[in-house]
Amino acid sequence: MTIKLNHTIVHSLDQHVAARFFAELFGLPEPVPFGPFLGVQVGNEVTLDFLDAEGMEIQMQHYAFLVSEAEFDQIFGRIKERGLKYWADPGRTREGAINRHYGGRGVYFEDASGHLLEIITRPYGSSMP
Ligand SMILES: [Fe+2]
Repeated sequence: MTIKLNHTIVHSLDQHVAARFFAELFGLPEPVPFGPFLGVQVGNEVTLDFLDAEGMEIQMQHYAFLVSEAEFDQIFGRIKERGLKYWADPGRTREGAINRHYGGRGVYFEDASGHLLEIITRPYGSSMP
């Protein structure tokens, strides 16, 4: 199978704020303008194209990222540095905690527009290491 997700649009309250927030938090290169979008590419060549919602109501989406243990430390460190709220679960009932699913670490937090982001060090369904 050769089908790969290539890009997706991330509706944002302010695309500049949202793209920068994402790139900085994840330690990724500066957002790249392309047409009306500001693109930030992640490691598997998927680009998140941040776009101003221009007053339209933003439907909350969920974006989950598989990261290394070292990247988790860096990103989670920035989450705490910035005083962002974070949760161990997608229902946001376990605030200030992370989860240990599949023998890894996972945490949920919000992007600059309220989308629910997640970082995990082990994919869902992984067997324990
Ligand atoms: Fe998820």
